[in-house]
This record gives sequence, C-alpha cells and structure tokens, in this order.
Amino acid sequence: MSGVDLSLERLLFNLNTLAELGEEITSPKDFTRVVKSSLYMVMGTFSASKGIVFQYDQGDGLFTQIASKGLSDVRGAGLKIGKDAASAIIRNNKPVDLKSADPIIALLGPGREFLERLGARVLAFLIVKDELLGLIAISDKFSGEDYTLYDYQLLSVMGQHISFSLHSHTLLMRLMYRYNENKGLYENLRRIYYDTIHAFAAAIDAKDAYTKGHSHRVSSYSAAVAREMGWSADDIEGIRISGLLHDIGKIAVDKSIINKASPLTSNECKELNSHPVIGYEILSRIKFPWKGIPMMTRNHHEKVDGSGYPDRLKKHDIPMGARIMALVDAFDAMTTDRPYRPRLSFREAIDEVKDHYNRQFDPEVVRPFISVIRKEVLSEVENPTIVPLMHEHLDPVTLSRILEGFPH
Ligand SMILES: [Fe+2]
Repeated sequence: MSGVDLSLERLLFNLNTLAELGEEITSPKDFTRVVKSSLYMVMGTFSASKGIVFQYDQGDGLFTQIASKGLSDVRGAGLKIGKDAASAIIRNNKPVDLKSADPIIALLGPGREFLERLGARVLAFLIVKDELLGLIAISDKFSGEDYTLYDYQLLSVMGQHISFSLHSHTLLMRLMYRYNENKGLYENLRRIYYDTIHAFAAAIDAKDAYTKGHSHRVSSYSAAVAREMGWSADDIEGIRISGLLHDIGKIAVDKSIINKASPLTSNECKELNSHPVIGYEILSRIKFPWKGIPMMTRNHHEKVDGSGYPDRLKKHDIPMGARIMALVDAFDAMTTDRPYRPRLSFREAIDEVKDHYNRQFDPEVVRPFISVIRKEVLSEVENPTIVPLMHEHLDPVTLSRILEGFPH
C-alpha cells in the first residue's frame, strides 16, 4: 500500500464518479443493472480489470453473485460464512486486502481461495445499519500499482453507496414477499367466500325440485346483461353475487308451497311472496364488498308499471340491478319446467317478454338482454351464457324472425 494520494485532479475525478454513482443508485432502474453499472464505475475508478458484487443471505450465510466483470469462471465452492464471522465483519466495517494477514481474511475460510481464484484483491463488505448485505471484490489495478490508503477510503464510500441500493432492494424484496404472502391469504379467503355463496345458492335451489340451477342462471344472465350495459367489473361482480342469492328468502318458505303443482291459496301466495323481504333482511345484515345486494334482492319481483311486490315501485324507483334480475328471473322461470306447466319455447318466452314490455319489464333492460342473445347467436361473444341453455338450436335467420318488432 503506497502513501495517500490527494492530488486535486484525482479528487475531482473521484467526486465526479461518486456523484454519478449516486445518480445511478437513486434512479429507478432495474436493480441488477444499477449494481452492474456501479461495479463498472468502481472498477473504472481504480483501473481494476476484474470485479464482482455478491449479495449476502443471512439465512444460509451464502454470498450469491449479482454482477461481475472480467471473470471467466465463478463456479466452485463459493463463499459462505457463519453468524460470528458476519458479526466480526460488521464490527470491522472497512475494506480489506485479500493478501494481507488481516484477521477478517482468516474468517473467510475456504472462501478465501475461492476469491483468490476469481482474481480478487480488495474486498469491501456492504453493510447498512449493522446488517451485512453483500460484498464487492475487485482485482489488482491494471497498472500493477498498490492500493493506497486513499483508495481504501474511496472504496469504502463507494461501497456505502452500493450498500444503500442493496438495502432498498432487500427491503423491497421483503415487502414483495409479504405482499405475495398476504395476497395468497386474501385469495384463500376470497375462495372460501365464493364457495359459501355458491353453497347458499345450491341450498336455495335444492328447496325447489324444478328450479335446479336457477340461481346460477339468474346470476350469469344478470352479469351478461350488466356487462352489455357497460357496468364496471366491480358492479358486475355485485349483480353476479346478488343473482346467486336473490331467492335466499325462500329458505323461510314451506317447501310444499314452493313445489305445489296446483294454484296457491291466498295465504300460501302471501308466504311465497314474502321471500324478497326475508331475503333483504338476511342480506342487509351482511357486509358485502359490493353495493346494492340487499336492495336488488328485495326488489327483484317489482314491475315497471308499479304492480309488482313487495314495495310496488315504479320504473325509476326500482334499482337497475333489480330491473335486470326481474327480467332474467322471469325469463329463466319461463324457459324451465315448472310444477304446473312445461317450459315455454324460446319463441314463446320472447313473445311473453314482448307482451309485458314496458309493463312488467323495463325496455332499458330488455334491449341489452336481446342484444346479448343476438351477439351469442352470431358468435360475437366468447362465453355465451343464455343461448346454450335454450334446449333448441337458434340460427341467425330464425332469431331475427323471433325478434321481429324488437328495437336493435
Ligand atoms: Fe324470486
């Protein structure tokens, strides 16, 4: 090691390099690229032809290469140190000469030979807040000159800069790990949540021997219409859930009433018609992540002319989601077998919708509903939900005949 070199020119050059290094490290570039360019700057500053940066893992004590230059082979036993050696390195916290008798070198064990084989000469450990994060090792100077005390000081400062970069990266990685861990937990909860709702829907449908899968169909039909109407992904999810639960109030209605083949008495009718309010009462106690679910359930039997139940609301007073569900609920009831009648054909169901247009059903909902059907028949949608369940083949010509009189 020769004397201290403090020539003004050298000092200015080095300050300049440090400023550039600071810029490199603080700019939001890819981490590996930042480390690599920092290594090049360090090597350039000392005219060293070889250099390597390792990241240290406190868990297994291993140093892993992040960037290197001028080294042909970095395979081999590698570098591994225990906790005690790491603590001694942190306490020492200054660059060391690999060929010196410094006690820190002895702590490296077989790692010393590994580093020598790589051509390393000076080591600067990367330490932040009493934590060993890595190591930068550079070779002899190209000129063959010794490293000076000043070089050691400069390398120490440059090492600090790289340490900060490594530190932020390590923090970021830990945060990402936590984030992913939490995301996994969230996904699990979400799955449980959906499974529970689906189990509820299945329990509701199980009460009615004829309406197997009714809630699922109302759910997917409603979502398809809402999508056609340009609803947000979140609101579509809300109506999908609402569709699954819209008849939940039926769990309080006697099974014999739900499955009765003959006309209902007025009392039975009253009991059956109480299901939207019961459903509302059940669902309004649940804090859903989507808005409007209890009201959509309460109002899914309202009619736009005000003759529906339970609130006898007119068109604009009925939540849009409930107006969608009112149509698809009735449409599914028409196109599936009932205890008191076989299912209607697609044409008959559409005729019913036409007959009750603007009285029971809202034109603002019927139009997008028809539009979805049209797109499904013309294969313009990826996952058709309504047409495949119609028990009959619908080609574009037949469809346009059936839909005659409906607005495009
Ligand atoms: Fe209902």
